[in-house]
Amino acid sequence: MTLTDVLPSIGRSLQTKLEPDVWPRSASATAEGLSIAGISVNELAARFGTPAYILDEDEVRRRCQAYRAALPGFEIAYAGKSLTCRAVLHWMAEEGFSLDVCSAGELAVARAVGFPAERILLHGNVKTTEDWKAALGYEVGRIVVDSLDEIEQLGSLARHPQRVLIRVTPGVDGHTHKAIATGVENQKFGFPLREAMTAVSAVLAQPGLRLDGLHCHIGSQIKSVASFELAARRMVEFIGQIRDQHGIVPRSLDLGGGHAVPYLPGEQEFDLVGYAQRVQVAVNYTAATLGLPAPQLTIEPGRALVANAGITLYRVVTVKGSYVAVDGGMSDNMRASLYGARYLVRLAGRSSTAPLRTVSVVGRHCEAGDVIATDVSLPADVHAGDVLAVPVTGAYHHSLASNYNQVCRPPIVGVRDGWARPLVRRETEEDLMARDVG
Ligand code: LLP
Repeated sequence: MTLTDVLPSIGRSLQTKLEPDVWPRSASATAEGLSIAGISVNELAARFGTPAYILDEDEVRRRCQAYRAALPGFEIAYAGKSLTCRAVLHWMAEEGFSLDVCSAGELAVARAVGFPAERILLHGNVKTTEDWKAALGYEVGRIVVDSLDEIEQLGSLARHPQRVLIRVTPGVDGHTHKAIATGVENQKFGFPLREAMTAVSAVLAQPGLRLDGLHCHIGSQIKSVASFELAARRMVEFIGQIRDQHGIVPRSLDLGGGHAVPYLPGEQEFDLVGYAQRVQVAVNYTAATLGLPAPQLTIEPGRALVANAGITLYRVVTVKGSYVAVDGGMSDNMRASLYGARYLVRLAGRSSTAPLRTVSVVGRHCEAGDVIATDVSLPADVHAGDVLAVPVTGAYHHSLASNYNQVCRPPIVGVRDGWARPLVRRETEEDLMARDVG
């Protein structure tokens, strides 16, 4: 039971304000409902249908600029896995960012917008023949190697010296969901510190490869700056060991992404300024102690740049007891089912003075676990046809979307200054049938 169940009048007054931190800054609530970038969600729902991902361009750019201002000496590479489409990659290129891709598919989008090849890093624990072909064909600047097999494969494929980073798992627990914790040892990514020198020797033995630096990514949705600081220290210490053993000093250190965002009101914002200071000090101090030049630092945020710039609009199809069922579900939001992620849901198409009640917002798919949000407060008069909005869906929603139940994936609609345009159109049954050639 929530406070609003006991005191419905509190619930009524709360519904008139937008919860801070989770909505894009351009979102506002009026008596007619929610608007974003000056456009009412009813208009967006009518024009583009539901479900629909809405992406606020200014919010993405504002976040990029906040990163640039907080981390002036860092290279910032957008992690494309969080949300890749032409428009977003174009904005990232314009903001002066680099780009992390991890498949030929992501690279194809980068290529389509002419993303500068020297600013692209290719990642992944599995790189297929198609991935190698695409990356070498486009001459991406750096490739992050993840296994001894890869070092050998790339060594024989690279036509001219290819700059590589070696992915290391520094043995740091980022205290996040175990499915997205990648800094701890004994897992599929990278080389644990105790084996990483073997990778260094393997790279140095390949005439077609040039060791540019080291890479680590300790996980995603990480709130603790101390975990990044510890990882940074361990990585610089390892650079010292490489110098001692091989007499060379790799010039760059990529500390990955993983900066947490608030999904619910009241959740702590990532301490970006603290991160910048503490990581820089940890790197400089450790390097100075070991008599090393400070490495060039790269970071790879994805979620922190786009998550809070996106909202999803749904239409209520039916209300049954405490279940409010909408026209989307786990095919457009896998995070709730995969990680038990929690979301806020808001009646967005109108305002209501009805008391709040606690409900579960569920999807249309044939599974009891197809839930978007449990125990959320919505006005008791929510009914079929209402438009609901879920914030913080800009990252790992479209990119994780599926066609479960042959449902077509929603569009991404870009909004800015009173204008809305489709960035990615809604999938159609023809799109689905086009692949079904049997
Ligand atoms: N760099 C590397 C090498 C990564 O693997 C990732 C994310 C990032 C950067 C960006 O991390 P971010 O800043 O976005 O947290 N599907 C999960 C997240 C998986 C993250 C995978 N790697 C989720 O929805 O929470």
